[in-house]
This record gives sequence, C-alpha cells and structure tokens, in this order.
Amino acid sequence: MYRLVYRMVLRRLPAETAHQAGFWLIRAFAAIPGAAWWLRRWLGPRDPVLRIRALGLEFPGPLGLAAGFDKDARGTAGLGALGFGFVEVGTVTARPQPGNDRPRMFRLPADRALVNRMGFNNSGAAAAAARLRRQRRHGAAGTIIGVNIGKTRAVPEDQAAADYASSARVVARVADYVVVNVSSPNTAGLRDLQAADRLRPVLVAVREALDRVPGRRVPLLVKIAPDLADAEIDAIADLAVGLRLDGIIATNTTVSREGLASSPAEVAAAGAGGLSGPPLRGRALAVLRRLRARAGDRLVLIAAGGIETPDDAWERLRAGATLVQAYTGFVYGGPLWPRIVHRGLARRARAAGLTSIGETAAGEAQVREAQVREASVGEAAAGQTAAGQTAAGEAPAGEAAAGEAAAGETGQPTSW
Ligand SMILES: Cc1cc2nc3c(=O)[nH]c(=O)nc-3n(C[C@H](O)[C@H](O)[C@H](O)COP(=O)(O)O)c2cc1C
Repeated sequence: MYRLVYRMVLRRLPAETAHQAGFWLIRAFAAIPGAAWWLRRWLGPRDPVLRIRALGLEFPGPLGLAAGFDKDARGTAGLGALGFGFVEVGTVTARPQPGNDRPRMFRLPADRALVNRMGFNNSGAAAAAARLRRQRRHGAAGTIIGVNIGKTRAVPEDQAAADYASSARVVARVADYVVVNVSSPNTAGLRDLQAADRLRPVLVAVREALDRVPGRRVPLLVKIAPDLADAEIDAIADLAVGLRLDGIIATNTTVSREGLASSPAEVAAAGAGGLSGPPLRGRALAVLRRLRARAGDRLVLIAAGGIETPDDAWERLRAGATLVQAYTGFVYGGPLWPRIVHRGLARRARAAGLTSIGETAAGEAQVREAQVREASVGEAAAGQTAAGQTAAGEAPAGEAAAGEAAAGETGQPTSW
C-alpha cells in the first residue's frame, strides 16, 4: 500500500514536499479521536524485553526518531503512535529562522540515502515549547520527547553559549532530555563549536539553564559529527564525562561523499549538505565504538547514522549504544518501519538469551573494547563507508535481516 502511494504520488514530488505530505498525513490520522491510541496499541513496542531504563526515563523500546523530521514539534503524538520508543524534535533555535532556500532536500535512491541542507528552518524554541506544552496537556504524554537545540544563524559564534542557553531555558520544562547540536554541516561555523575549548562554555551555559528547572534534573546530551578525527572524538568524550553530561548522540550527517552507488551526476545535482542513510553506517559505527571505549559506562550513547534494518540496530546496541535513532531508514521504510525494527530486535534479544535488551551493550563490553584497541576509527571507517557494507563479524550468527526490512532491500525509494 505504502509503495503504491509512493509510486503514484510521493515519488513525483520534490523530497521536501513529499516529507511535508507524509507528515501531514501522520498528524491528520493521529488527530482522529482514538486513532493514536489504536495505532500505538498496534505498532508500539510492547514486548517487555525491549524496555530500557536510561537518562532516568523508562523507554518502551530502544528505537527513536532522530532530530530533523519534526523540527517544530508539530506531530509528536502521531510519531510516537507509529511505534518509536522516543521522538527527538528540533533542531530549534532561540529565534525563528527560514533556513536555506529550496530545494534543500534530495533523495539518492541507489544508496537509499538523503542529502539535506535545510539550515535549521524552524519557528523558534518558544513556539515549539508552546506546542509541546499543549500536546502534553492533551494526553500525548505517552511519548518520551527530546528537544534538540542549535545556534541561531544570525548570532555570532562568540555569543553561541548565550544563544544555546536561551533556547535551553525555554524548552527545559517540556523536554524529557535536551540535546546540544553542534554538528549540522548546514550552519556556517557550527561544527567548529565541537572543539573542546569552544564546546565547554556552551555546555556549561546550557547545563546552568537546565538546572533552573525545579524538582527535576533535565538530562543533557551533545550530538556530534561523523567527520571528526579520533583525537577530537576522544576530547569530546572526556569533556562530556568531565562536565557530567548524560550522554552523546553519534552521529549527525556527513559531508563525505565516499563510496556512493549513485552516479556522480546525481550526487553533484544534490549539491552541498549532509548525507544520511546507509553510506554513513560504517563511520557512525566506528565513532560509537570509539566513544564507548573512551567513556566506559559513564555516558549514555545514542547511535544514529545509517540504521535501516533490525541487524543494523542490533549491531549498534552490541557495539555499545544504549539507544538508537534513525531518520532516513524511516523515510525509505514507511510507517510500519519502527515496528519492523522493534520486532526484529526483540527476536534477537530473546535468541541471545537476554531478559532485557539493555543487557546487550554490557554483555558485549569486553569484546568491544578489544576491537577498539585493535582498530582505530580511521582504519575501521576506511573499509566501511560503502553503501550496504556492515561491520565484519558483528552480525549475529545465523540471523539475517531478510524479510524484516523489506523496504530497504530493493533499493527502491519509498520516501514520504
Ligand atoms: C532532512 C534531514 C534533516 C535533519 N535535520 C536535523 C536537525 O535539524 N538536527 C539534527 O540534530 N539532526 C538533523 N538531521 C540528522 C539526523 O537526525 C540523523 O542524525 C542523521 O540523518 C543520521 O541518521 P540517519 O542515517 O538515520 O538519517 C537531519 C537529517 C535529515 C535527513
């Protein structure tokens, strides 16, 4: 059904228009009285093996929707009802801004990838916070909501800390957790804030803003790029531990265009921006491994980047992720995709003899640390950036994703 709608309608639309149409449908359906409840019952993760306690919260399942899909917090009820264990809204900025000129989102169907240079288009942190407050009042409180904040484009870099803190103050009360995004490639100079000495004041200011919320400690994470050097990844892990951050999200989109199956002409036509989806898988996995080896169990790690099958998600959990997130896999996989991934994960967890999927990372810790000692991030990434490749030796023995992630198998784009 979804494929038919795609072929007849969505494929003919520009990527961003198709996204808006798909998201509108989700919101419209969820607005029908009783529909969100029914959807959640059907699609939501209900297997107890999938439950994870992290960040002081009880996640019904480890798969969340990554930032950027619902930038303005317009549809958390519908997205939560589709079966995501949590939804991260944003990136929101302290001041509303239009983002870059269109077109700014492109499909690379041969790679099941996307390129975007949205540029933090959003209606501002205050508007998003007001929506979240309303949604919570109207009973959408069942979904765990993270709020991802970024720097307002017009604000100079030396005032970044104050700008982030201003967003943090506005969203703190309505966020289950807050993410400082310093890794989007589409705001000039933003990724320079990942340098430890520049990141520190931003994180300190945001922590102070969140600490003003009475009676609750709002968890704080930072989201990093896959294009960092090993030493930079280590420095961020050390900083996060030193500042007692709750976690790191690894990773955002990449500026690399290595290993793509799409023709050079298609890639050139998409132009500048962040690449997401399977071509990012190897590098995002390597960054995750490095972070876990460096931080031990002192940080929650949320893995993102090229997760499109239950095997991908399972591999990240085994490599040290506490939770996983995706955007592009959902775009190509369609509305039943979160359920497919959660069910596949539950099967793998049970086959591995786990009573909770949260035990996955702990059980693999020793293997992981040995692997990280053997292979640097650079070496690991070099062989794994091509679309479709997975990390050698990490797939669970005798288990294939066949049949579980049918949407991704044909390479057919099934974008919203
Ligand atoms: C169209 C688009 C817009 C995005 N916007 C944001 C954003 O506003 N903030 C952010 O932190 N990440 C953003 N991302 C990055 C995703 O959250 C995610 O980190 C990245 O796409 C890798 O995951 P994936 O391969 O599952 O898509 C965006 C991704 C896409 C494809």
